[in-house]
Amino acid sequence: SASDKGGWSSFMAKEVSEQPDAVANTLRGRITDGVVTVPELTAFGDDILAGVGRIVIVACGTASYAGAVAKYAIEKWARVPVDVELSHEFRYREPVLTADTLVVSISQSGETMDTLMAVKYAMAEGTKAISICNTQGATIPRESDAVIYTHAGPEVAVASTKAFVAQITALYLFALHLARVRGSLTQAELRAQAAQLQAIPEKIQIVLGEAPAIKQLATWMSDTRAVLFLGRHVGFPIALEGALKLKELAYIHAEGFAAGELKHGPIALIEPGQPVFVVVPSPRGSAHLHPKVISNIQEIRARGARIIAIAELGDAAVLPFADTVIHIPLAAPLFEPLLAVIPLQIFAMELSIAKGLDVDQPRNLAKSVTVE
Ligand code: G6P
Repeated sequence: SASDKGGWSSFMAKEVSEQPDAVANTLRGRITDGVVTVPELTAFGDDILAGVGRIVIVACGTASYAGAVAKYAIEKWARVPVDVELSHEFRYREPVLTADTLVVSISQSGETMDTLMAVKYAMAEGTKAISICNTQGATIPRESDAVIYTHAGPEVAVASTKAFVAQITALYLFALHLARVRGSLTQAELRAQAAQLQAIPEKIQIVLGEAPAIKQLATWMSDTRAVLFLGRHVGFPIALEGALKLKELAYIHAEGFAAGELKHGPIALIEPGQPVFVVVPSPRGSAHLHPKVISNIQEIRARGARIIAIAELGDAAVLPFADTVIHIPLAAPLFEPLLAVIPLQIFAMELSIAKGLDVDQPRNLAKSVTVE
């Protein structure tokens, strides 16, 4: 009913707007004296965490992209190799699981059968398993050795939005706890990263202020047949998530690419008028990658692409080459995904609405897939 939607026109619109709280509530009680300490992980065992040699993240759909973002943070901060696997691919190929492997599953519902089976498989092989889950008491956290709950609140719209930012938040807490017990970051670095996390809710609120402009863009583009998304580093999984949102909500053919891969194939798709979203890395924080992405933009623009750039506020280099720029506030590079994904969610949602589709319950999809 409309009252459950709290005055919003859809659950999706409500849940997109709740993302500052989804992050803030997931952080609560997990930063002490400016440093990340996750009580659930302390209970699991800091000695076990200190001895982990490899992490395998298993998940499906949007949750798998949260895992793909977290790979960059876990490897950088905790210096542990991370593989991100689709649960259904992991389970059926006799994956190599050594005694020091830790499996981290991510599931909003905690009931996705493919992910449950992957966790059970790993545990039967003697691997420890930690669950990132948004649903208290769900099957996957019950089957796991430990759980870090995301506190996004119930997510009703089928396509995931607020659970995604909460998952990245929980995974970053996991990464910083791990870095602390392993001594891979200094106390000052641990504090700086925790402070970056705590600043995210306010910055998401600022990005939400771009909604009217994004709605306008979506309305203009309502007859678009294909959209491409480019990103690099942590912007790459965000490009994949942007494409997934557009498929799910607006039934538009969409594909995400790593920007560096463009010249190895996807650039052949560019023809005059082709819309391309580009997640542009920060010119300050990613000084080595920023010019490379700008030159990607120039290459495809010269071939007629219509560029919609998600770029840091004050990034002047992107302005001459973009048809549209959506600004995000300044953040350290690893934190940009929590901001850059918001305009992509809003774009997909508004395009769905502009096409008169059911944004909360897209055709053919289920909120949680409890069959293999
Ligand atoms: C379904 C939903 C997706 C979701 C995926 C994983 O396919 O439609 O939005 O990302 O399942 O769900 P989970 O509950 O495991 O995060």
